[in-house]
Amino acid sequence: MTETNILARDEIQEITGLTTNNLDAYWMPFTANRQFKKDPRLLVKAKDMHYTAADGRQILDGTAGLWCCNAGHGRQKIVEAVQKQVAELDYAPAFQMAHPKSFELAARLAALMPDPLNHVFYTNSGSESVETALKMALAYHKAKGEGSRTRLIGRERGYHGVNFGGISVGGMVANRKQFGAMLAGVDHIRHTHGIAGNEFSKGVPKNGIEYAEDLMRLIQLHDPSTIAAVIVEPVAGSAGVILPPEGYLKRLRDICDEHGILLIFDEVITGFGRLGTPFGVDYFDVIPDLVTTAKGLTSGVVPMGAVFASSKVYDAFMTGPEHLIELFHGYTYSAHPLACAAALATLDVYAEEELLTRGAKMAQYWQDALHSLRDCPNVIDIRNIGLIGAIELEPIAGEPTKRAFTAFLKAYEKNILIRTTGDTIAMSPPLVISESEIDVLVGTLRDVLKNLD
Ligand SMILES: Cc1ncc(COP(=O)(O)O)c(C=O)c1O
Repeated sequence: MTETNILARDEIQEITGLTTNNLDAYWMPFTANRQFKKDPRLLVKAKDMHYTAADGRQILDGTAGLWCCNAGHGRQKIVEAVQKQVAELDYAPAFQMAHPKSFELAARLAALMPDPLNHVFYTNSGSESVETALKMALAYHKAKGEGSRTRLIGRERGYHGVNFGGISVGGMVANRKQFGAMLAGVDHIRHTHGIAGNEFSKGVPKNGIEYAEDLMRLIQLHDPSTIAAVIVEPVAGSAGVILPPEGYLKRLRDICDEHGILLIFDEVITGFGRLGTPFGVDYFDVIPDLVTTAKGLTSGVVPMGAVFASSKVYDAFMTGPEHLIELFHGYTYSAHPLACAAALATLDVYAEEELLTRGAKMAQYWQDALHSLRDCPNVIDIRNIGLIGAIELEPIAGEPTKRAFTAFLKAYEKNILIRTTGDTIAMSPPLVISESEIDVLVGTLRDVLKNLD
């Protein structure tokens, strides 16, 4: 244990609610561990739009946890469903066995998606959904007799989770550079960030449809007969909220169709109402072959992911002797009963409160509030869509990420939870946020930005 991390037991308990003074045992993910452990930020309760910090403060949740608690926190219906389920059926094997809720949930999910995305494969996270979709794409072409299609194409600045397939097709440099050569046979199209004339766009930016043609460059380079799939986030979240130019996703779809390439949308963030429609598929009116989801599926209550597959993909596997396994892939906790119960109750809450489309009703207010920050110091761009918003700050010379991270710390001191990536502040509140809560969130952020070095 390093010396800085040893506090007196009563002192640390008072500040943090911790019952140990050994903070070193927990190696925290995607966290500046040493900074955090000097001044821990601990949350101990959550209800609706607020967290309770260990020191008793109410923190307005501007990020839906990590883009996942779309229905808000501590929703009674979901809590009760999970409680009931754990007492009734804690676990059922996922291979060669099932439990009824797994089928009920898949049918309800498939009904939410446009035809032909009619099939659902369960995972436990967004990262696992991505691995699953990439493997499905490779296996699909093999099943169709086109085994030479092994190449996967991602996009610069894409985020597709942290497993090897995901970081290989992903395009966030920091997430890749520590981990060696990754998957072979992967290439990337250009990102769509920073296109001239798109600064301070409201919603989808106008310029840059031609960036989709970058896929043609890779198709010409590698030959379509070697390419299995293209994976993109309809809206890139984790890399700082990068929106697709108008018409760009449709163009990607057309190019994939022309060359027999599967298109995968990673909707781990955009799924379940974030854009004001149930999925990005609906918002952009583009239907890919595979869609990865997680997060909002259970409103963050129990880890769960799901991959939606089109009938074309699913049917390609449903051949050969019926006693044989068609896809050699799955997880011990695929369709975990607790996750299924949480997801079913979450879908109920979404339906009862029309949350999957509420973002569309709130989008104008959200947009106006965010863009009112335009005149704050160091703001170089503001982007928004549905209930997602991003404020990009001018980096401090020689110290990238520091300005935004300082804003995050100051915002937390002032009782709002935001998120930063690079020098961009990203916000994605629970879909139940009210206009007055938007005012508090944005008003507090204005205060923070005005008093930032
Ligand atoms: C688009 C996208 N894909 C995949 C993931 C990974 O999800 P998880 O952290 O649940 O593995 C994320 C997480 O933010 C994401 O935004």
